[in-house]
Amino acid sequence: MTSALPQSDPIRWPAEAIWLAVEPLLPGFTVEVLPEIDSTNTELLRRLRSTPARLEPLLLVAETQTAGRGRQGRSWQSRRGDSLTFSLGLPLARTDWSGLSLVVGVALAETLSEHLPAGHDARIGLKWPNDLWLIDAAGERKLGGILVETASWDGVRQVVVGIGLNVRPLELAPAAAPVPGFVAAPPASLSEIDPALDAPGALLRILPPLARALDAFGQAGFAPFGARFAARDALFGRAVKLSDGTEGVARGVGWDGALHVHTASGMKEIISSEISVRPVATAAATARGPSPSETPAPGLAPC
Ligand code: BTN
Repeated sequence: MTSALPQSDPIRWPAEAIWLAVEPLLPGFTVEVLPEIDSTNTELLRRLRSTPARLEPLLLVAETQTAGRGRQGRSWQSRRGDSLTFSLGLPLARTDWSGLSLVVGVALAETLSEHLPAGHDARIGLKWPNDLWLIDAAGERKLGGILVETASWDGVRQVVVGIGLNVRPLELAPAAAPVPGFVAAPPASLSEIDPALDAPGALLRILPPLARALDAFGQAGFAPFGARFAARDALFGRAVKLSDGTEGVARGVGWDGALHVHTASGMKEIISSEISVRPVATAAATARGPSPSETPAPGLAPC
């Protein structure tokens, strides 16, 4: 495995430019860059627990995560300089949070797609509910993931949106418990989209559209994002298998972000983020077992 950027090499985070771009969209917004932390999601949830009165939007960026977490208790591997790992915590005045991770995915995919080289036959797709895929001649490979968690105190609900993106190729440790019959595809990285895009540059590009999307979601929920998600839905029309054993054909998502799967016993609506979905026909190529960047590990489940 090639080594991470030496600790002595500083990473120049554009914290002030980020603050200037995001504060008008999320009043009270602050930015913190942490040289090392277990997980930016865990740290934000810890801080919310210890100071529940703190309801202002807060961005935590980690240069190194020692215990990064993915969905369903998996671990999320990253490497200093070669990965972008951050979490945005904010209060959202909404009772119905369904579809939030899809909205985050739409914002990320649209922003990053602006960096795709002209004439290059590649696109960024979204795999329900929280994966960004780079889809090109090499197949479908995971570019990043989203972990949305929530916490509430005294009736006020805070959301923590955690995002992990591969910036440069990572040679990651093999899955601790590979799924028999699946060959793990190497993850994709932003460098394949735009070699000039480093972690600080990507963060600066991503945050303002993300803040706008979160604000829009807070006001009107997932429904206004439905068409934009559909345009990037990487599962639509494909045979899929759910982690509960159900098989069917993915038929897009509803107004609430639920995945519709046409099964032998009728249309099923999948709302639980605890259920994972895998395309059947391309399973070996897409490696949707635990991929190298999301190895199974005991950990906190999304709340
Ligand atoms: C997934 O694909 O399962 C979601 C991965 C989310 C990883 C990010 S990295 C920043 C934040 N901190 C974490 O521990 N996880 C999220």
